[in-house]
Amino acid sequence: MSSGLVTVSYIGATILFILALGGLSSQETARRGNVYGMIGMVIAVLATIMSDAVTSYFIVVIAMVVGGGVGFVLAKKVEMTQMPELVAILHSLVGMAAVFVGYANFMDPTSELIGIEKSIHEMEIYVGVLIGAITFSGSVIAFGKLSGRIGGTPVTIPGRQWLNLGLLIATIWLGSLFLDGTAEGAGTLPLLLMTLVALAFGVHMVMAIGGADMPVVVSMLNSYSGWAAAATGFMLSNDLLIVTGALVGSSGAILSFIMCRAMNRKFIAVIAGGFGTDSASSGGGPAMEITGDVTSIDADDTADLLNSAKEVMFIPGYGMAVAQAQHTVKEITKTLRAKGVNVRFGIHPVAGRMPGHMNVLLAEAKVPYDIVFEMDEINDDFPKVDVTMVVGANDIVNPSALEDPNSPIAGMPVLECWNGATTIVLKRTMASGYAGVGNPLFVKENTRMLFGDAKDTLEAVLKHLHD
Ligand code: TAP
Repeated sequence: MSSGLVTVSYIGATILFILALGGLSSQETARRGNVYGMIGMVIAVLATIMSDAVTSYFIVVIAMVVGGGVGFVLAKKVEMTQMPELVAILHSLVGMAAVFVGYANFMDPTSELIGIEKSIHEMEIYVGVLIGAITFSGSVIAFGKLSGRIGGTPVTIPGRQWLNLGLLIATIWLGSLFLDGTAEGAGTLPLLLMTLVALAFGVHMVMAIGGADMPVVVSMLNSYSGWAAAATGFMLSNDLLIVTGALVGSSGAILSFIMCRAMNRKFIAVIAGGFGTDSASSGGGPAMEITGDVTSIDADDTADLLNSAKEVMFIPGYGMAVAQAQHTVKEITKTLRAKGVNVRFGIHPVAGRMPGHMNVLLAEAKVPYDIVFEMDEINDDFPKVDVTMVVGANDIVNPSALEDPNSPIAGMPVLECWNGATTIVLKRTMASGYAGVGNPLFVKENTRMLFGDAKDTLEAVLKHLHD
């Protein structure tokens, strides 16, 4: 394929990627956005394979069959609740690729660059390996935390900010040694040492972030993986990879910012780590003790309450995804709306385990978009709500975020359902949520607990609604 045609294909793919991002900004257009992204990727891959950069089809075909096969099996097997950890581990692969491409470029015996061009290329290699290694180790730890293989509580070592500063200084120092290394192979040791430093930094950074702040890490690593891809693009002189990486990097950064704002956190403070510990986000004292009795309710009484309500609010959380209860929620919504009840949904920005998790599930169950509201849009409406159904949510409806300055989630905005007439919480046990904090909502006077798997209990409620 001529280089002109490759360039035209790359421009086409870039436009499609931009349209994909635009499409993903709302539920109505998300499906179309995905299709644009897929077409863009097919064009990008085909144009790259057919360009002069590829000299041996044998290796490319083997790599595509192996990679495509693994991806196909994973995509088929993965549960909706495992998506965030899959995304995290895929980010780690982008980081690893940047590291390998960096080393391959560094060791390339055919390189004929000299003078300033050589220095610039070496800088690209150094930065690419740096971002790649941080992305790789950080994503592996995020995968461990999201999948429950590593505990969710932040692991903070004393003087960790000094350690971070030390690692930063070491990286700059090693960078100057790397660029200074005029003799053949002199840069190898600094590059290797920096890789180890960057790997350690990635581990340290994500280990120190915990509990309710993980959403920021997920989107931040998404951003890093984009910059790692862009760095790879610079090393390979591939314009499409640079543009695509920059698109992912900047959209991930914007998402991290949105997440931080939603959680009432400062981005730098989250990255510096330590939220969820006794001193960082909280007032320093022990968290408030939760005392009081829990009142449970059964499915029949829940159905009666719903039948006599005029305003019903659903608050879905991670447990709805675990139970796959979204279709039953939709059926209940349909039944109540047919009876003239005003049913709405309140979505917390970090409900579930990945950005937009609940919206995706509700869209899958075909819940109408116009009754699904963001937290800020409906939080003031709770005093008018007769029944709030909290379906498998916990941290996002925890009043201690507002009432207890010593709570690890202090300051995080939450859905204030307790201001409504009755709140019914659907969960299996009294266990805490992702952030590992007790929830005083469960002992409030106007709260009722409907224990059991959310799908089972909701099906029982639905059955009684039809009786
Ligand atoms: P959580 O606070 O994790 O609470 C989920 C609740 O669902 C649990 O208390 C659990 O209680 C219940 N549950 C689990 N399986 C269930 C089932 N089959 N049926 C009924 N209930 C079930 O979830 P949330 O309120 O959605 O809050 C999200 C949390 O995850 C936040 O802390 C957030 O920071 C964190 N997080 C979010 C993201 C993103 S990007 N959204 C990423 C990483 C972490 P039982 O075990 O008693 O049933």
